[in-house]
Formats: sequence, C-alpha cells, structure tokens
Amino acid sequence: MENAELIAGYTEHINAGLARVLAFMGMDATAIRAEGPYVYDDRGRRFLDFLGGYGVFNFGHAHPRIVAAVKAELERMPLSSKLLIDEPAIRAAKRLSAVTPGEISKFFFTNSGTESVEGAIKLARLHNGRASFVYARGSFHGKTLGSLSASGRDQHREPFEPLLAQFIQVPFGDADALSAVVDENTCAVLLEPLQGEGGINVPPDGYLREVREITSAHGALLILDEVQTGMGRTGYNFACEREDVVPDLIVLAKALGGGVMPVGAIGGTPEVWAQFEQKPLIHSSTFGGNPMACAAADAALQVLVEEKLAGRAGRTGEAFLADLMKLREKYPKILADVRGRGLMIGLQFTSTDVAEIAIGAILAKELLVAFTLNAPEVVRLEPPLNTPQELFPEAVSRLDTALGEATALVEQYA
Ligand SMILES: Cc1ncc(COP(=O)(O)O)c(C=O)c1O
Repeated sequence: MENAELIAGYTEHINAGLARVLAFMGMDATAIRAEGPYVYDDRGRRFLDFLGGYGVFNFGHAHPRIVAAVKAELERMPLSSKLLIDEPAIRAAKRLSAVTPGEISKFFFTNSGTESVEGAIKLARLHNGRASFVYARGSFHGKTLGSLSASGRDQHREPFEPLLAQFIQVPFGDADALSAVVDENTCAVLLEPLQGEGGINVPPDGYLREVREITSAHGALLILDEVQTGMGRTGYNFACEREDVVPDLIVLAKALGGGVMPVGAIGGTPEVWAQFEQKPLIHSSTFGGNPMACAAADAALQVLVEEKLAGRAGRTGEAFLADLMKLREKYPKILADVRGRGLMIGLQFTSTDVAEIAIGAILAKELLVAFTLNAPEVVRLEPPLNTPQELFPEAVSRLDTALGEATALVEQYA
C-alpha cells in the first residue's frame, strides 16, 4: 500500500486520534523494517532506536538467534494442543528459574504485561485470601481493569471507576508511608523496583529492602513488577537484585520475548504456588505458554546471560548518564533533571509543552524517543542493551543539536 492509503486506513479503521498524534510528531510514515538498533521507514529515514519499544528491544530488533529459535518452532508446531506437554515452555521456565531471584521457581506464561499483573493479583489473593493491595503513586502496571486499579495516574483510572476495591495508594520511595498502611488485612504490595512510566523514578537506596521487611512482618506478599526493569535493563538481570530483595511474585513481559514474540510471565515461590497447584485450572490462558513465544523467551534468556547484557547495560549506562548530565548543564532552560539506572534513563523537561518541542526536535534527528505515560514531561531513553558503543556518543551529539534547537524555539515563544 502507498503511504497515503495506509494513513487513510489507519485513520478510518484503527484510531483517528492516534493518527493525528503521529502526524503532529512527523511520524505518520510507515515502518519498513528494523534490525539491531535501527528502524527504517518509507521516507528513507534510518532511526537510531533509543526508545527500544518502551523496554521491549533489550536485544535489539530481530536478534538473529532469537529469530532462528522462533522460526524453528514455526516450522515444527507453532501452536499446541495444550493437552500434551510443550517442551519450549519447560525450557523457558527452567531458564527463568535459574536467573530469577531466590526461591522463585514456578512460572505461568502470559501474552502481555498487564495479563501478568492480573494473574499475580489473583494468585496473591488465592494464597492468603486477604482483601487489600498497596501500590505507589505514579505507578504503571497496564490498562486492564485489575492493573488499572493499581495505576498511579488518575487520568487513566477515573473514566473506568469503580475499579477493584481496597487498592491503597502511597507515595513511591517512602517506606514510612507504606509502613503506615500495611497491616494484617494487606494481601500484597505491588511495586515497580524503579518506576518506568511514572517518569523514570529511582527510589532511595534501601527502599526495596525496607518494603520487603514491612511486608514480611505483616505476612503480606511482595509483588515486583519487572515488566520494564527486568531482563538486564537497569544493569542487573532483575532490578531487585541490586538490594538482594526476593519478592514472592515477580511479573515479567516486554523484553522476555526477545523483541521477537509477545510473552509475559508470572514467577512465584513454591509457597505462593501451593494453592494454585491445588486448583490448577483456576487461572489459565489459551495462548499463554505457546511454543513460539516460549522458544523466544528461552533464546532471549540465553542471550541475556551469555552476552552478559546486564553488566554491559550497567557500564554503558553509567557513561551515557554522565554525558547526559553535561547536557543538563548546557541546557538548563529546558532540561530540569536527568536520572536513571543502567539503560533506563529519563530526561525531565521543565514542562510537558517543552518536552513536546524537544521530542519533535529529537525525532527530526532520526533518534527514536518518547515520553513516559504517567509523566509526559519526562522523555525516556531505553536503547537496546547491545547497542554498539560508538552509537552512544552519536546519540549524545544528536541530542545536543536537538536540545539546542528546542531551547531556541522555547526562547522564541517565551
Ligand atoms: C512496569 C509495567 N508493568 C506493566 C506494563 C503493561 O504491559 P503491557 O503493555 O504489555 O500490558 C507496562 C507497560 O508499559 C509496564 O511498564
């Protein structure tokens, strides 16, 4: 199809509002192909992908080993009967068990992040039967009704209320505030170890450990949502490793599918899984755990470990963050803060309008970026963890030029 026909089709059959947003950003072009750290469009542009599919492309686009694993399953048995045992699911679960923290050794495969969160909420309730959940302001756990009940942005929740009852919101990073609401009625505390869509919010050192102590003291579960922070993104295979914190349930998706297949997973300890094993059909998914998805997860986990991508993200991220801090000093009129861990970095602009201007200028330099969903004044940088080293100075140079242009525009209209 010609580009004009595609845009008309998008407007007519997908979402006219989104089509307007894409046109406004100059992104009403068609993606042709993607490989490694690059995305190519039909206008002949080659974007350096520092958005990374919102945390999906930790391994870059179309990683050959992951693609090969999926192709092999496609030819062998793309979907299964589900009545017999599927080897790829067992392989992926074993590999997950080897890399996830502590006693986590049981897995339920899903197709997305929000499905993983929904399942974790149900398994927590099934385990202890308690009523309330505690979650953090600014959090993002997905957009189905259960996950939305733990969403830290009113704008996303309010049109759908009433949501699930007894979901209590606390400020993120404040262990005292959490301690004040966790009690014998608390089923679980649900947190991201480092908030992604909330604006790349890094909690104070020791916060996660304190949360673990508070939940354990009251017999409440700790559910960590590592959908975005997991699979090496923050310099650790899973962000909770930094404080040696072991959750009762871990929630995964995004990069688990290696950037090739949609895959999510809920991981839990044998203790939390006990009730589920008594009633194994109380939670299920037709497509969850399918052979192609699990082959992708299995291959992605091998690449993560063998290519030591977590360590690489930690080292590269530190140097990249230092360079970005210099940009903050250079452009104080528009850049309010730069923060992050590993290759999960946020540039906070002075306002949402300024962020919009900056995003336009950055995209025009063929560098893919986007704002965070719950904090649109923050632009996130989440490049593939295996991005060649020389592309980081290249990205800094493009950002430098774009921020210079954005500053000039802001000054012109101020
Ligand atoms: C931390 C976190 N949890 C859950 C989700 C929801 O994942 P999905 O969009 O696959 O449902 C996201 C998506 O951005 C996320 O960042």
